[in-house]
Amino acid sequence: MSAGTTPTGEHPGRTDGRAQATGTVPDADRTVRLGRELAALLRAGDLLLLSGELGAGKTTLTRGIGEGLGVRSAVASPTFVISRVHPSLGDGPALVHVDAYRLAGGLEEMEDLDLDLALPESVIVVEWGEGKVEALSDSRLLVRLERPTGAGDGTAGDGGTDWSALDGDAPRVVTLTGVGPRWAGVDLAALLAGAEGAPPRAD
Ligand SMILES: Nc1ncnc2c1ncn2[C@@H]1O[C@H](COP(=O)(O)OP(=O)(O)O)[C@@H](O)[C@H]1O
Ligand SMILES: [Mg+2]
Repeated sequence: MSAGTTPTGEHPGRTDGRAQATGTVPDADRTVRLGRELAALLRAGDLLLLSGELGAGKTTLTRGIGEGLGVRSAVASPTFVISRVHPSLGDGPALVHVDAYRLAGGLEEMEDLDLDLALPESVIVVEWGEGKVEALSDSRLLVRLERPTGAGDGTAGDGGTDWSALDGDAPRVVTLTGVGPRWAGVDLAALLAGAEGAPPRAD
């Protein structure tokens, strides 16, 4: 557990290599910026699993990661493909962006993607990846994005989703959980403090 991170799991204070931090990201631009800042920590071999309902901001965060890594082509929501490789424009790792939403099964269903072969030279970000791709690595960073409940959160009174509310900027609660040796000692809380507290850019 690194200094500054807060163990907020079921077993506070346990030191099994989990580091967790939670913060609020007020708008989509700030989510992109969080992605850019997160990218500065990332290196080839890193696996990120993004969770949160449709419209939570998983692809928005991934766009920032792509910008921060300096990869080719803007990250977008895949329409027909479930995976897209964004090669680095420099000498950094490629970004492999997977949207596993339509996949019910696990890695065997993604065999064609050869994620295991790509991982040593890439950062792999998997939306809806939890419970599906953990076997790729002994370490992973879980990123959970949630819309706080309350008025204007995109949730209709009947429990359904009010899609009209999804376009405007609204806060997201982001929880980062590092699992495994790769993330032990990484100060995830500092990352979220930056996303939350930084003043708007002048440009
Ligand atoms: N704080 C925020 N963080 C991220 N996205 C936000 C935020 N506030 C509003 N949005 C909007 O919510 C939508 C998120 O879409 P997207 O990133 O594609 O979600 P997902 O990939 O989780 O389905 C975008 O239209 C984005 O502009
Ligand atoms: Mg998405």
